[in-house]
Amino acid sequence: MAGMNLTLKVWRQNGAEDKGRIVEYKMSDISPDMSFLEMIDVLNEELIQKGDDPIAFDHDCREGICGSCSMYINGEPHGPEDLITTCQLHMRSFKDGDTIYIEPWRAAAFPVIKDLVVDRTAFDAIIQVGGYVSVNTSGNTQDANALPIPKADADAAFDAATCIGCGACVATCKNSSAMLFTSAKISHLALLPQGKVEAQERALNMVEKMDELGFGNCTNTGDCEVQCPKGISLDNIALMNREFLGASLKSEK
Ligand code: SF4
Ligand code: FES
Repeated sequence: MAGMNLTLKVWRQNGAEDKGRIVEYKMSDISPDMSFLEMIDVLNEELIQKGDDPIAFDHDCREGICGSCSMYINGEPHGPEDLITTCQLHMRSFKDGDTIYIEPWRAAAFPVIKDLVVDRTAFDAIIQVGGYVSVNTSGNTQDANALPIPKADADAAFDAATCIGCGACVATCKNSSAMLFTSAKISHLALLPQGKVEAQERALNMVEKMDELGFGNCTNTGDCEVQCPKGISLDNIALMNREFLGASLKSEK
């Protein structure tokens, strides 16, 4: 397949105070086998050679693990394909002559740092108040068979643990709710014996922190589940609400 000619419309913003604007770039002879981030690398090389400011974007693992390559592509978090991150998207998903809009996450709790890079430390703050277990799991490791866990629970905990903290759920939600992310972190611990001990306290602390940081509430729109690159289920939000309710009732006694 011959190289593609593309028009990119990229959001450029020089810091949180800058209003920002869309800037157009023409790309030619782009291989369909290139990844989306490699295509931006090519554009940045061209910009640097011309003495222009390269486009700032986040990336690290480039294999769908770290969750840092967050961006809107044609109005969808991580682009047009399901269950992948931007770094796993390839140019073969586009056609010769396409115009592609590239924008940062848009949520008050994720302020733009520069261009496509947003500050997602609000997620770290949520993790810090509950993303751990206090029981000692090191130094006296038991044989796995000594602690039987129902297969369904183990599978559900593993599925929840695949959340990579990318923030697509927040970006796509009309309320900028962080419920899917927070519930995945709560579920993956609450479903296992080591995490059950402080499950309710964890839910209370993480939900309170989420509200304090300016994330919105959940109105069951379900966009988060659709756009999540790891297929995190809305069922996790139901589990989080159960734990939160239990903790709230206890603290009222
Ligand atoms: S729940 Fe999905 S969309 Fe939200 S942060 Fe985790 S992996 Fe990303
Ligand atoms: S760069 Fe790590 S998930 Fe995309």
